[in-house]
Order: sequence, then structure tokens, then C-alpha cells
Amino acid sequence: MSVDLRSYLAAAERAGLLDRVPELLSPAEPLARRLHEAGERIVRFDRVRGYAAPIVGGVVASRALLARTLGTSPGELVRTVMAALDATRPCRVVRDAPFLAHVVRKPDLGGIIPIVRFYPERGRRFLTGTIVIVRTRSGMNLSFHRMMFLGRNRLSVRVVPRHLHAVLAEGGGRAEVAVVCGVHPAVELAAATSGPPELDELRLASALLHGRLDCVELDGFRVPAHAELVLRGRFTGALADEGPFVDLTGTYDGIRRQPVLEIARLYHRDDWIYRTILPGGAEHRALMGIPQEPRILRIVANAVPGVVAVALTVGGCSWLHAVVSIRKRAEGDGRNAGLAALAAHPSLKRVTVVDDDVDPWNADDVEWAVATRFQPDRDLFVITGARGSSLDPSRDLATETTAKWILDATIPLGRSRRDFVRVVPGPV
Ligand SMILES: Cc1cc2nc3c(=O)[nH]c(=O)nc-3n(C[C@H](O)[C@H](O)[C@H](O)COP(=O)(O)O)c2cc1C
Repeated sequence: MSVDLRSYLAAAERAGLLDRVPELLSPAEPLARRLHEAGERIVRFDRVRGYAAPIVGGVVASRALLARTLGTSPGELVRTVMAALDATRPCRVVRDAPFLAHVVRKPDLGGIIPIVRFYPERGRRFLTGTIVIVRTRSGMNLSFHRMMFLGRNRLSVRVVPRHLHAVLAEGGGRAEVAVVCGVHPAVELAAATSGPPELDELRLASALLHGRLDCVELDGFRVPAHAELVLRGRFTGALADEGPFVDLTGTYDGIRRQPVLEIARLYHRDDWIYRTILPGGAEHRALMGIPQEPRILRIVANAVPGVVAVALTVGGCSWLHAVVSIRKRAEGDGRNAGLAALAAHPSLKRVTVVDDDVDPWNADDVEWAVATRFQPDRDLFVITGARGSSLDPSRDLATETTAKWILDATIPLGRSRRDFVRVVPGPV
């Protein structure tokens, strides 16, 4: 298995999964449009106007691609991540790293990095494939954060209240960090996984790569040694406007005051590749949603041991809607599974619970279950005034609350299954 981005891309190209764009394009909307049109394929822009680095996107734009990076199948992906979460392991610490080959002090980021302008409004340019590494009491915390270019070496960074937010709050808004961009997708998957505060995502990545992740010590940070681009800097305690940004829903998010990050040093490999993620695109959804599924599955399993799978649906922005499939053992299991899923992922707005003969990842199959097994006056449960996702434009803007609903589309236990099972033509 490859352990860095470039060897993974080379393998993907050999497998016919990567498209190369040879035309000279500037890092702006036409390039973003090509990424959008690529859907679930990997795209590499070989020639970028004004920059030496090529740009790559769509690296893990689907469940199938993400599974492939871990050498597993889409059906086994969640179990693979759960097994790694149970058996995290340290990365191999090495003395040298390819990214140390080039260092620029007080870099003019906009002159070196082809930071993409994805959407025309207000001309904002964002780094989107950026993972922040911060030291915590229990190790290294890694999380994705988009970064809006403010000029020279300054960025405003979107930080929602999770672990990096807590570290900043403790430090009065100040913190030293390293930022990596362009790492093996297993490191990206680990960084996108929300675990307890003590989860060291580098250890998770190392487990996903069967111990083959090399890390180097950089100013007290452990950093993947084969990263394409590494930034060292500090949150200054200042705030600046961030946004508007097109988020998971494909709609504009608002403008907020967010922490300012000042970059002191930029490192990159020879012939480095710049990794980007199209905001609101298939890859953004895949990387946000899929890493949540193991956690939700585990929490639902506590309430309903017969849970089989949890899917965050693409139509629900891989964030707001879930389908939970269960092997129903007692009346009420469907409702309990829905409640547990809502508790496990506070951004969830709708949970559809189905029996295990329904494919939770197939929207037509799920709708079939709702059409044939669900009665709204009996099986629909609405919870009002709950905390939801700030990404949902339909939320109550004054209170930041939302209603949530559970659709229990499981077969009532008192009824004969024969009335509900799908009949397919059998052999004569
Ligand atoms: C592509 C992508 C972009 C993301 N952008 C942000 C962001 O801008 N700000 C943020 O706070 N979280 C963002 N996230 C979510 C966090 O990275 C994710 O919730 C992570 O698991 C949080 O880590 P933690 O559990 O260690 O706090 C993004 C995730 C992905 C996959």
C-alpha cells in the first residue's frame, strides 16, 4: 500500500481513476468548474498559470475511492475504520523528511501556493485541503480547517467548537500549530474523524496504514514526513472576517469573525503537488460524512444491538440526513435507533430507520421502504427546538435551533413479514 499522496495518485492513474488536465489554467473558477464536472473522479491540473505546483482534487471523492485508499471495499470501510480506532498505534518517527528540502521564511503564501478562487462572489481564495496539527495533553490533534487568504502570510481559519477550538480557548486565542496539505488519504480520513479529545489522529492514521506512516519531529510537532506542503505558524489571538464560503450544502455560508493564523515558515517537497478540495463538491461531502459513520454506528449499537449500518446520505449533504438499518428485535427498536443517531451526530436533522433487507446507501431502496412500510401518523416522530447544524439554511436564525424527525420505516413486528418482503422472480 502506498504511504504518501503522490504514490497513491500514481497507482490511481495506472488504475485509470485519474484524469489529467494539460491546459494552462489559472487557479480560479474555470479550474473549479472542471473539478465540479469531474464528479467522483480524481483530477490533476498539470499546468497552473503563475505557479510551479500542479493542483490535484477529487482524491477521495467517493466511498469507493476512500475504501480503495485503505485497501478495503466500500461495504467494509466503516468496519475497517472501527477496527483501527480500537487499535491505534504510533507512527514511525524518522529523522529526515522530503518536505524539509525547501523552506521559505515569512512566505508570501499567495505567490507560492495556487490558492484557488472557487466561486466568483467577493473573489475570496481558500485553502481547503489543509489539516491543522496542534499539541494536546494526549498527543497530536489533527483536524481539517479551511483557510481564507488575507494577504502575504495571513489566513483566517474557520474553527467550529471542537478540539482545536478548545485549545485556542485555553490559550486566549493563541496557539502554535503546524499545517499539512497533501498527505496520504488515510491521514485525511483520520483528521476528518471526530473522536474523544484524547484521540491522537496520527495514531489512527498509522493504524489505518498498518504502521507504515512515517512522521518527523518539527518544533515539537509530529508531522507526516511525506506531506507535500507544511506550514508552521501561530494563531495570533486576532480575529478577521472569514467567508462567504460555499459549504457542504452547496449554498453560501455566512461571514464570521474567525481566528487569524500567521505563517512563519513554509516547507515543500521537490516537485510538490498542491492538494485542494472543491467546497460543496462530492469530495467535500465524502470526507465530511463517511468518517462520522463509525462513531454513529457505535453509539446506536449501544441503544439497539441489532443495528447493521449507518449511512449519511448524499442527498442529505452527507451531514444532515442519515439512514440506519437494523435487525429489529423488539417493537420500538426503530424509534430508539433514530433517537440514538440524533444524539450521536448533533447536526443530524432526519433519520430514516429501515430493516436490514433495505440497502441504506441506495436512495431508491430507502424510498421504497418508506412507501411500503411507513405510515406518517404512526411512524413519524418530530422533535422541535433542538440544536442542529449551522450549515442548514432553513434553521431558526434567531435561536439557531431546528426541528428533527425520525421516520421509522421498519415492518411492525405484529404483522406478517410476507406482506412486506420484496418478491423477485425465482428460478422456474
Ligand atoms: C474537507 C473538510 C473540511 C472541513 N472544514 C472545517 C473547517 O473549516 N472548520 C472546522 O472547524 N472543521 C472543519 N471540518 C471538520 C473537522 O475537520 C472534523 O470535524 C474533525 O474531525 C474535527 O476534529 P476533532 O474531533 O479533533 O476536533 C472539515 C472537514 C473536512 C473533511
